[in-house]
Amino acid sequence: MERYNLKSHNTFGLEAVADHFLEYGSEEELLRLIRQGCLEGRLLHIGAGSNLLFMNPEFHGTVLHSSIRGIEVLREDSEHVWVRVGAGEVWDDFVAYCVEQQWYGTENLSLVPGEVGAAAVQNIGAYGVEVKDLITQVETIDLDGVSRVFEVEECGYAYRDSIFKRADMKRYFVTRVHFCLSKKPHFHTEYGAIQQEIEKRGTLNLNILREVIIAIRQSKLPDPKVLGNAGSFFKNPVVSRTKYEELQRVYERMPHYEIDADHVKIPAGWLIEQSGWKGRTLGPAAVHDKQALVLVNRGGATGADIVALSDAVRKAVSEKFGIEISPEVNFID
Ligand code: EPU
Repeated sequence: MERYNLKSHNTFGLEAVADHFLEYGSEEELLRLIRQGCLEGRLLHIGAGSNLLFMNPEFHGTVLHSSIRGIEVLREDSEHVWVRVGAGEVWDDFVAYCVEQQWYGTENLSLVPGEVGAAAVQNIGAYGVEVKDLITQVETIDLDGVSRVFEVEECGYAYRDSIFKRADMKRYFVTRVHFCLSKKPHFHTEYGAIQQEIEKRGTLNLNILREVIIAIRQSKLPDPKVLGNAGSFFKNPVVSRTKYEELQRVYERMPHYEIDADHVKIPAGWLIEQSGWKGRTLGPAAVHDKQALVLVNRGGATGADIVALSDAVRKAVSEKFGIEISPEVNFID
């Protein structure tokens, strides 16, 4: 499709018109697009657009989207099941399916927006679980039409990162992702808010854990259908232990996560709140009032409005704490 409006393909709800928009529903269709030369020139492969910021009202190039579907069981034993999932499956539909089948592993990632392919590219994470812990292989097709399967160890997974985010790796399109899930109960409830909710309910099972996670997320994170946003806008910064100790002397109750002997992670949401930006607006953009890590489109914001807010927030945090926070969202120019 030509001159395609991407408003419904980005959860910020920004107006952005792409020169071309193409969708493929199978590996064969992708290969045909490659053979026909449709993927020459500037390319942007998107998932559900839940982590994208279009900085300009025009995208000069081709936007590509996978609608490869399917959840297949590859093999199973008494303890595990190995499944192969199409990159275009909605992530939370996959989680719901796993919970229905009583397969353990994905439940803490309930309601994370986006699709399976993008989840594998950006290593989504929440409530003590990262998707890399569940992935075994990532199937790809590159711009020359060559198939390649990456073992999980080859994917360079780190906090919200993988090799697929590198500029030189954008030529690989994720087509399917393989996961290993457990048939035996194995819960991650170490997150404070989860424990409190479970205690209130008095029992713990897979369905309850999914419900609890959904309730916690819904209480903090705005629904993009109501208020445009892209989830956490910034990554939680990792600082040196020296820096952490220096701050901790002043802010005794500063939340933090231990990384290693020399590093500590500090929640960016806390830094932003302490900098006075929680709930503050800047034109048609705002910092969410229930979770300062989320920037929202109050209606009619442009990419430039969101960038202006992002810059103001970063500057405030840098001036107050001497910590540079960086966006988790992908800026598209
Ligand atoms: N906090 C504040 N003020 C705020 C927000 C948070 O003081 O406005 C404090 C909280 O009180 C808490 C700490 O910061 O002590 C952490 O907050 P929270 O549990 O809400 O998690 P987060 O670190 O802000 C990360 C992920 C989320 C994920 C949650 C739960 C990143 C960038 N974000 O947020 O992921 O859902 O943990 O695991 O790592 C996303 O990536 O889009 C996303 C929502």
